Amino acid sequence: MTAPLDPTPKPTGAIALDTLDLTKRFGTFTALDHVSLKVVPGTVHALLGENGAGKSTLVKCVVGYQRAEEGSVLIDGREHDIATPVIARDLGIGMVYQHFTLVPGMTVAENLLLARGHIPAVVDWPAVRKELAAFLDTTPFKLDLDATPQQLSAGQKQKLEILKQLLLKPRLLILDEPTSVLTPQEADEVLGLLRDRAHAGECSIVLITHKFREVNAYADDVSVLRRGRLVAAHRVSQTSAQQLATDMVGGGADDAKREFSAPERAVREAGPERLKVSKLTVDGDRGQIAVDDLSLTVRGGEIVGVAGVAGNGQRELLEALVGQRRISTGEVHIGNERFHATRAQNFRLKVRSLPEEPLRNACVGELSVADNMGMRRFDRAPVSRLGWMHAGQLRERARALIEQFGVKTRGELAPIRSLSGGNVQRAVLARELSEEADVLIVANPVFGLDFAAVAEIHQRLMDVRNRGGAVLLISEDLDELLALSDRVLVMSEGRIVHETRAADADRNVLGAHMGGGHHAATEAEAVAA
Ligand SMILES: Nc1ncnc2c1ncn2[C@@H]1O[C@H](COP(=O)(O)OP(=O)(O)OP(=O)(O)O)[C@@H](O)[C@H]1O
Ligand SMILES: [Mg+2]
Repeated sequence: MTAPLDPTPKPTGAIALDTLDLTKRFGTFTALDHVSLKVVPGTVHALLGENGAGKSTLVKCVVGYQRAEEGSVLIDGREHDIATPVIARDLGIGMVYQHFTLVPGMTVAENLLLARGHIPAVVDWPAVRKELAAFLDTTPFKLDLDATPQQLSAGQKQKLEILKQLLLKPRLLILDEPTSVLTPQEADEVLGLLRDRAHAGECSIVLITHKFREVNAYADDVSVLRRGRLVAAHRVSQTSAQQLATDMVGGGADDAKREFSAPERAVREAGPERLKVSKLTVDGDRGQIAVDDLSLTVRGGEIVGVAGVAGNGQRELLEALVGQRRISTGEVHIGNERFHATRAQNFRLKVRSLPEEPLRNACVGELSVADNMGMRRFDRAPVSRLGWMHAGQLRERARALIEQFGVKTRGELAPIRSLSGGNVQRAVLARELSEEADVLIVANPVFGLDFAAVAEIHQRLMDVRNRGGAVLLISEDLDELLALSDRVLVMSEGRIVHETRAADADRNVLGAHMGGGHHAATEAEAVAA
């Protein structure tokens, strides 16, 4: 029986990674077309590209999760046939996947141990816990070893995924959009840690991201994929965000400019109250109070942003509002009607929503894109009449939405989990935003979207507001909140602790309230008094 934590970790040392003419096909579709990527040891190498460009496919081929049809993978200049992720792990290659891989029924501690591929039958838990706690101390992350993944926010899950890999002392660590669910401060912590380890020569890092800020601040080199081809490779110090945007979308400088344009906000008075939350209390997964006597209102023609550090009750608030979590006390009204988030009410009152992790929370992965797009309305005419579904109409409507929202899929009958991460998000947004919304409840809506899609979705959210809809936007991204909101609320420990008009908002003040510091609270009270 081996000890769960290896007392003599393998020697570390950064790996040189080269792919030579890597080509990957799915049926007749070429996802990777002769890609030759070069990662210098001890560097942070960023990989950029639009949704569906092939980024995840490329790194999955490197770690043996998928097999390329042609080409080779070189580790320190030697060709290796990496047929499975286990072989990759033995070579010292770790990967943090775009979708979470945590085991729901296991604790944080057990999930950490599982990184080795197995948990021994006999575990000396006191010793292991001590070692894990000591390991956690070498990182800037704080995690409760006894929590289970359901109890963690998306950001905390992401940190756990990264810790799982760091525990193995990888020589090459690949991270597929690790910062999508992190606040900018958390992203800085994570990326700073990874860069330091790389520059110390312990490992090489491949970082997939959509954020130019992160490339600029943390990467040494950057490669860009477009439609399965490697179209550019630069030293970060010798390129610009504008250049990278142009590389990503190909030539069209107009497309590239979209990133730099803010959504168009129509000048309008806020209308009557549409969404009213009164003294809402909601329990968390462990029976603790997650949402604490919270009240808020959103008027028609208004976007109300909810800022906050992950884990302060935002997830539970959203789940309660969309009917996925029991409300302990308090009420929700849409207009004058008491709201219970039933299908019938959602339909009649035109309430739409987008939860976090849509592939898990808003889709059925095995079903087709068309079925998933139809989910909200498959019992509504014209798609259904006399009680059965008209598959033809369902498909036709799906095709129209795919076109309209630019979802990259091989067709409306492809299972939704075969789509790239950003395209799953687009498909769900297409479903939720395709019909007039009177009330829209969204959390982190642009998680994992490339810059062009971010601009487009932001504009669509703004359009709902401009047409008089009420939008509640829960987000961990202050930039997003300030760009879109009319009013910003700060949520801390289950309560709204601060409110301001977005136009008057001061980041430092918001940050202080988000930190939930006693100082900030007393200051706010002083102002209120
Ligand atoms: N298992 C699969 N079966 C069929 N097609 C697939 C499969 N995996 C990926 N694809 C297709 O390959 C293309 C590249 O997908 P990939 O996931 O690599 O994109 P990506 O660059 O990571 O995008 P994103 O930024 O949205 O995560 C997409 O068009 C996708 O639909
Ligand atoms: Mg991807």
